[in-house]
Amino acid sequence: MFNSRLKTHHSAMAEGAKYLKGPGVLMDVLEQKNSTNRQPATIYIHVPFCSKICSFCNMRRSLQEPHSNYGDWIVEEIRNYGSYTSVKEMVFDAVYFGGGTPTTLDKEDLRKIIRALKECFRFTENAEFTIETTVSELTEDKIAMFWEEGVNRFSVGVQTFHDEGRRQMNRIGSGRQAFEKLRYLKNAGFATVSMDLIYNYPNQTVGDLMEDLKKITSLELGGFSMYSLINMKETKIDEAQGLKNDEEMFFRIAETMERSGYRFLELTKMVRDDTYKYIMNRHYGADTLPLGAGAGGSICGLAMMNPIDLREYQTSVAEFGNRKGMQMHPAYKDSVIFKGDLQRGYLPRNTALYKDYEAYQAILSKLLAEHYVVKEGEEYRLTHKGIFWGNTISRELAAMTQ
Ligand SMILES: C[S@@+](CC[C@H](N)C(=O)[O-])C[C@H]1O[C@@H](n2cnc3c(N)ncnc32)[C@H](O)[C@@H]1O
Ligand code: SF4
Repeated sequence: MFNSRLKTHHSAMAEGAKYLKGPGVLMDVLEQKNSTNRQPATIYIHVPFCSKICSFCNMRRSLQEPHSNYGDWIVEEIRNYGSYTSVKEMVFDAVYFGGGTPTTLDKEDLRKIIRALKECFRFTENAEFTIETTVSELTEDKIAMFWEEGVNRFSVGVQTFHDEGRRQMNRIGSGRQAFEKLRYLKNAGFATVSMDLIYNYPNQTVGDLMEDLKKITSLELGGFSMYSLINMKETKIDEAQGLKNDEEMFFRIAETMERSGYRFLELTKMVRDDTYKYIMNRHYGADTLPLGAGAGGSICGLAMMNPIDLREYQTSVAEFGNRKGMQMHPAYKDSVIFKGDLQRGYLPRNTALYKDYEAYQAILSKLLAEHYVVKEGEEYRLTHKGIFWGNTISRELAAMTQ
């Protein structure tokens, strides 16, 4: 039914432009925000620095030392938001420090940011605080500080434990060191330790992959994200292996890890006990406060992207009242939830969004007949085959909506 596999939801979500209403000013939104909106929100903090550039990655980052004022700018940005009653009334369920590499920041800067968040915002009782990190930047003194400040979830970018694979990816340190650091984190008692795994990279064998899976299982990680290598522009690694290998490796991961007690939480995430509230809230259409240079998010229908350029970002913090964004049509939230359902491994519940219901029924019949989905009560759940093709299915179905 499909030939070309989309590997990420970013490409599946590119068509958000059709929901744009026009420019809007953040201050107007914050002053008017309807405080009856009780859906828990999330916070995303972007730290666009890395100490080494990986050969496969073109994420919003640069190879530089963090600016010495970066932590202070974020704290100021937090206080700016916190000065609005409407934001004080919001309840946050998850904070995600992403990047780049958040742990390139100085320990005391990280502490300061976490404390400012807790001082200025209200959180749910079991709010999730995630730090995305690499093995080499996550030092023992930072781990101790994160424990003191109540961080409860780590997403560690291991990618592979295989030394030759690590060399191709330009990762710092050996697979052994990565393994030991994860073990240290687990033993420290944090609620959730998760890692990123890249598979289908050049010359990786099924045996190499199985070794990686064995290590994840033996570490009893709460979960792991599994990314088939994407050939991105401006990256240095050789091309990923082809579709056949991609598919074989995906099924190996799915089947092996289900036998070891993991299940799919998302198209690219398997978990044992990781609830990953940040992403789950977002799939249900939660607002996300964007903090830091290059962070994106949306509040009450105003979509925002902070400038990635540090000087422009600093100005946008100093002149917070003038911050602008794009007002989105209310239907945008429906489309986020629609795609969120697919990311969670289900066909979207909201079938009223299809332009032509009969055309949808025809696709649904095919998906059922070819075993991409199975009916489960009132829901249609993606099978392993459906999960493998999930982002492609998402794009096809989204194209059929109004
Ligand atoms: C935004 S990156 C940041 C992670 C963190 N800085 C690190 O190095 O581990 C998040 C994850 O995206 C995945 N990723 C980045 N580029 C990729 C690519 N070209 N193909 C597949 N996965 C990729 C990697 O697994 C990476 O850990
Ligand atoms: S994978 Fe992480 S450490 Fe490597 S370049 Fe990308 S953001 Fe930086």
